[in-house]
Amino acid sequence: MRIRTLAAIGAGLVMLSAASFAQAVKPEETQATREKGEQIYDRACFLCHGADGKGDGPAGWFIGRYEAPRPRDFTGGGFKFRSTPSGELPTDQDLFRMVTQGIPGSMPAYVGLSEEERWQVIAYIKTFNQSFKKERPMALSLPNPPGPPSDAGIENGRKTYIKYGCQNCHGDNGYGDGKEALDGNLKDTYGLTISPGDLTGRTSLKGGSSAHAIYRTIMTGLNGTPMPSYADTIGGNDKDVWDLVYYILSLSQERP
Ligand code: HEC
Ligand code: HEC
Repeated sequence: MRIRTLAAIGAGLVMLSAASFAQAVKPEETQATREKGEQIYDRACFLCHGADGKGDGPAGWFIGRYEAPRPRDFTGGGFKFRSTPSGELPTDQDLFRMVTQGIPGSMPAYVGLSEEERWQVIAYIKTFNQSFKKERPMALSLPNPPGPPSDAGIENGRKTYIKYGCQNCHGDNGYGDGKEALDGNLKDTYGLTISPGDLTGRTSLKGGSSAHAIYRTIMTGLNGTPMPSYADTIGGNDKDVWDLVYYILSLSQERP
């Protein structure tokens, strides 16, 4: 059983690594691309993210009214899914990745837009936030895993999970039923109750479910949520981070 799970993780890695490394070539941003982006935005994004990008479109006002997540407010700094350090803006590649893969439970994957159109709409959403003009967000380096997951590594990952208190929010088995969650203590920057999600359901992971995506989430944290960055703690020991990643992947069972 354990062997099968490990083999599945290995196969997943091979499959996903090609996709996660593919860096889309970004065309130059010009006034013309931003204008094209605006037309796409009005058609595809406005309903949730709102005319001014504040996450308050006609549907956005309703989505996330009582519970997180609310559609992202592009005018603020609280971008969650980044390869940049905690508190910083995402890179263009981060935005491209999210628009391309979508967000399970929140936002469709815009593979129906051509790559050019996705870059155009990204050029446009960046105009909602002046900081994109001034700052040059730099991605943290995403190293390769030291090797395939091993039983001993996964066991060390489980210990690391407990040592750093992941279970306080995520629960002992990753179901999202930790004490902080059950007590209703977890809120996002809007003061909305936010769930830590279910780490045992690989397809529901919002930032992606490849080993690299989980590594990135642990190292960068999710801005605007209680999920902190562990770059300054576990990040000091790369092997522990990868073991933790493999431990989390080992929690999700293959669903028929
Ligand atoms: C059905 C509603 C909906 C539509 C339509 C929609 N989004 Fe979203 N989007 C959301 C929600 C909700 C979130 C926040 C999810 C979360 O925080 O977990 C989000 C988050 C994002 C993020 C992630 C930002 C971050 O925090 O890292 C980007 C980028 C984004 N949207 C861009 C777009 C673009 C571009 C379009 C149009 C092509 C679009 N969205 C259309 C609902 C929507
Ligand atoms: C203080 C509470 C808290 C602690 C401690 C915490 N997390 Fe989280 N974590 C969250 C919340 C809340 C979310 C969901 C955020 C969202 O959906 O926007 C989350 C999301 C995640 C995700 C999923 C992101 C996705 O793509 O959907 C992973 C993976 C994760 N945490 C791993 C960890 C690990 C590993 C640790 C310990 C090293 C940890 N977390 C500690 C609150 C916490």
